[in-house]
Amino acid sequence: MQPGRNTPLASGTQVPLIGFGTWDITGDDVRPSVLRALEVGYRHIDTAWGYGNEAEIGAALRESGVPRDEVFLTSKIPPRRIGLEDQTLTGTLRDLGTDRIDLYLIHSFPTEQESPRLWEFLVDARDRGQAISIGVSNYTLEQIDDLAVSTGVPPDVNQIRWTPSLYDRQVAEGLSARCVVLEGFSALRKANLDEPVLLDIAGNHAVTPAQVILRWHIQHRFITLPRSTHRQRIAENFDVWGFELTDEEVARIDALGARGVAA
Ligand SMILES: NC(=O)c1ccc[n+]([C@@H]2O[C@H](COP(=O)([O-])OP(=O)(O)OC[C@H]3O[C@@H](n4cnc5c(N)ncnc54)[C@H](OP(=O)(O)O)[C@@H]3O)[C@@H](O)[C@H]2O)c1
Repeated sequence: MQPGRNTPLASGTQVPLIGFGTWDITGDDVRPSVLRALEVGYRHIDTAWGYGNEAEIGAALRESGVPRDEVFLTSKIPPRRIGLEDQTLTGTLRDLGTDRIDLYLIHSFPTEQESPRLWEFLVDARDRGQAISIGVSNYTLEQIDDLAVSTGVPPDVNQIRWTPSLYDRQVAEGLSARCVVLEGFSALRKANLDEPVLLDIAGNHAVTPAQVILRWHIQHRFITLPRSTHRQRIAENFDVWGFELTDEEVARIDALGARGVAA
């Protein structure tokens, strides 16, 4: 893994800051998309039991010839699989063709009673070596605190919807203060790619607004998970290492978030 392109989790594991998102990529679209992502340099793939594409991702990984150790794999267990946790994780590992997942997440907050119980399953999975790191998704800071208090084990990651217009400094700083890495999703889908500030900054660097958004994540050390099924865009979204936003540009992008500016 290349230094500068990764961020450490509290567990010590290094995670590539750009992962390939795979929600809604199914069937015949999976193989070419994943192969293309690996070809242009992604070494982090985000999937979930609920995406129904783990078997196709596993097949594409094997076909790519990229060694398993070089790819950071994330999957998630949804609350509706409570009671079927073992089968869910076993199925994920089987379909991906691996004996361990690099990051295993609770896909969304279940109930106050279920959250610590499901979390204990992830902790056990980590203790058994089936998951290297564990985390949550779509949790609030309060829900993370409750989990940490009730189980004594804070998550390594919180995967949440995140794009400049949703930038919330309190959430970013709150996660950082808890040593929980912020992993953003829907960075492009929830963005306005015609936003004048993004267009202006993109012009400064001869890149696209999508690349500006992804670069903004990297400079904040947020993980981001762009998804595309188009060869050119898959490459474009990973081609963000050759330019740097100025501090002023980062601040202008922060200010697109309703709560991005310090009070
Ligand atoms: N934990 C959760 O609850 C959760 C929820 C949602 C997503 N996620 C994860 O986060 C990943 C990313 O989020 P997302 O799937 O919502 O969307 P996204 O990556 O923000 O956006 C994907 C959309 O943007 C388009 N796009 C991609 N690259 C582009 C570019 N360079 N210029 C213009 N348009 C571009 C894609 O179209 P084309 O395919 O046509 O290029 C697609 O319509 C998911 O795939 C999934 O892995 C997690």
